[in-house]
Amino acid sequence: MIGSANGVRIGITGLGTCVPERVLTNDELATIVDTSDEWIVERTGIRERRIASDEEALSDLALPAAEEALRDAGVTGADIDLLIVATVTPDMMFPTTSALLAEQLGAEDAAAYDLLAGCTGFMYGIAQAYGMLAGGLSKRALVVGGDVLSKILDWRDRSTLVLFGDGAGAVVMEPVGRGGFLGFELGADGAGGEYLWLPGSGSRKFDDPESFVKMNGREVFKFATRVLVSSANAVLEECGRTVDDVDVYVPHQANRRIIDHAVAKLGIPEAKTVVNVDRYGNTSSGSIPLALADARADGRLHDGELVLMTGMGAGLTWGSALVEWTERGR
Ligand code: ACO
Repeated sequence: MIGSANGVRIGITGLGTCVPERVLTNDELATIVDTSDEWIVERTGIRERRIASDEEALSDLALPAAEEALRDAGVTGADIDLLIVATVTPDMMFPTTSALLAEQLGAEDAAAYDLLAGCTGFMYGIAQAYGMLAGGLSKRALVVGGDVLSKILDWRDRSTLVLFGDGAGAVVMEPVGRGGFLGFELGADGAGGEYLWLPGSGSRKFDDPESFVKMNGREVFKFATRVLVSSANAVLEECGRTVDDVDVYVPHQANRRIIDHAVAKLGIPEAKTVVNVDRYGNTSSGSIPLALADARADGRLHDGELVLMTGMGAGLTWGSALVEWTERGR
């Protein structure tokens, strides 16, 4: 799916994040599985990640992130009429985390649902919110992307354990006076589904009673390096922009090597690229809002700047968005 904005200006007016307090370093991981700080840093660029406690579930991270985003936008939960939580690790299948969150935030009139699109969930979520806002169905939306993948990892499997971390981010989206989203490109390829999957997590029965993330790292690597480039180029072309127009590039934070590859292929200067995978690992649907928030905290997101975001993940799925940043501009 690809499309450019139809003249309706919808932007991000609030941003918030939350990560668990517990920091898990590579050296600590090396006491759990046969790995080393050297191997992890060289192959992934990850140095540490945040891990939720036994008591912490997704909504415990989503709520502070959402509250911060609402404060940032200068609104309250009551001002939200659409609440999407993109995740593969909801508190439970139902009630949805979005319904729980709507209640906690006082978003009484909001439509609320969870969205499953692997690590690309946040990109799908903002595209859906854009469509509903631009179509006039919603007036102000809250989109949360977050995961606690530590709960579904096999803590004996070094090939997946070292890659992921927990975290959540949230954005408020609404009509803005200037700037806003220019377009989106989203896609999925179920043929590659078994390269990154969670067998036994749904209604299909599997022989293995355990349900953990399984991944073919090399195939996911090839897929990720391909779609980060093709999706970014597609959305830029659709919106009549070029790579040279991009001021801030926010790729999904899966692996430093994947990001380096995309940056080199796209020809985006490193200085314009946001990287925080070293501190958080791959936080799945939390990745892009966490990176956006870091960029803003570092003073790298300014009014009118063109921001390119691309996510990819299980499905296999991918998605890009191009937005002209609006700082306090609605
Ligand atoms: N520590 C030490 N050794 C390890 C570890 C580890 N944590 N994991 C694997 N190895 C070993 C392997 O067993 C293998 O050993 P062998 O040669 O004796 O068989 C060796 O290291 C090399 O393994 P490869 O899989 O070839 O290593 P590669 O260079 O491909 O790196 C990696 C593996 C980092 C997983 C890489 O393939 C990758 O990044 N893939 C993409 C993964 C990803 O980003 N997934 C999520 C994206 S989508 C989403 O966000 C949900």
